[in-house]
Amino acid sequence: MSMNILVTGGAGYIGSHTCVALLEAGHQVTVIDNLCNSNADVLTRVQALTGRSLRFVHGDIRSRDDLARAFAGGIGAVIHFAALKAVGESCAQPLAYFDNNISGTIMLMQAMQAAGVERLVFSSSATVYGQPDHVPVKEDAPLRVTNPYGRTKLVMEDLIRDWCASRPELSAVLLRYFNPVGAHPSGQIGEDPRGIPNNLMPYIAQVASGQRERLHVFGNDYPTPDGTGIRDYLHVMDLADAHVKALDYATTHTGCEAFNLGTGQGHSVLELVRAFEHASGRKIPCTITQRRPGDVAEIWANPARAMQVLGWAAQYDLAAMCADTWRWQRDNPTGYA
Ligand code: NAD
Ligand code: WQD
Repeated sequence: MSMNILVTGGAGYIGSHTCVALLEAGHQVTVIDNLCNSNADVLTRVQALTGRSLRFVHGDIRSRDDLARAFAGGIGAVIHFAALKAVGESCAQPLAYFDNNISGTIMLMQAMQAAGVERLVFSSSATVYGQPDHVPVKEDAPLRVTNPYGRTKLVMEDLIRDWCASRPELSAVLLRYFNPVGAHPSGQIGEDPRGIPNNLMPYIAQVASGQRERLHVFGNDYPTPDGTGIRDYLHVMDLADAHVKALDYATTHTGCEAFNLGTGQGHSVLELVRAFEHASGRKIPCTITQRRPGDVAEIWANPARAMQVLGWAAQYDLAAMCADTWRWQRDNPTGYA
């Protein structure tokens, strides 16, 4: 069923790829984004890639007026990406994270209620599992967080769950992403971090393109086969597809449910480096440094529930994640700027 979808944070990395998937699935799209971590040019590229137009509201989800503009014209469902997401920054400025992420989500739910919109797909994160007792992680694993960013995700999950419990007509899907990487296979849109990348894949990509000298590998003394940290890297195109499926599910079910989104396979830092070297044909110089405080040794998803309930499974492998990241990086060395 075609709907008008409000995508908060739709100019961001995952939001922009999801806009492509939504437009290709025949939905109409309204984006609200304050561009605090993105560039409006991405939306021009999304429209060029799909041959479809979308509506952009340059605004903040903490502004009632901006939200009213976004909801004007009739919205069928909301996909909520807008958030601050840097773990280190959240430790230095927790109040900014509480305000943007938690207050923003409350304002959004109020606007949905005022507009009579009953379906929500929410960007949660594997960060809600903190240091897991077992891998692979299932959705019923204990939820515990290790930093203020993670706290905001956990609180937002709880707020959405409580809101749904109060109104049986509501439907919310909480998607717990593991480690999103990759770019649209066209090389036209991708991840465009500001400043020094916090995350492994964009850092490696910038080393490959010569913008950074070498990768610092944060510890090789973890209890893993090669001593480096293991994560569940997931192609952003697979993630975008999961949002379309989650939306379909939300239109036919009520209540609040959480799903892991990962491939179910873990890869170490050094495995990712080797895969990227292969995809790019470039050498990635590495130096082993201290562990990064707060990092867990290994975490990967059990994504079975997303398969059983949403009919979703990851299709792209690590080689494709690296090849697509490299195409984006090579063709857009300065991102959207
Ligand atoms: P991103 O920073 O690229 O996108 C977020 C977008 O939201 C940006 O365009 C930003 O300008 C916008 N935004 C932020 N605060 C806003 C506000 N108050 N009002 C309007 N717009 C606002 O991040 P992303 O990687 O695309 O992440 C999207 C979502 O997925 C976030 O909620 C993030 O926490 C979650 N997530 C990301 C990852 C990851 O590794 N990228 C992993 C798990 C979960
Ligand atoms: C992956 C691996 C590092 C950078 C983070 C957030 C999480 C989620 C996804 C939003 C680890 C190692 C990294 C580098 C390195 N975001 N590494 N050198 O930490 O699993 O997850 O992003 O929800 O909340 O915490 O991802 O890409 O930062 O790190 O050696 O320069 O790469 O130690 O083992 P992480 P990451």
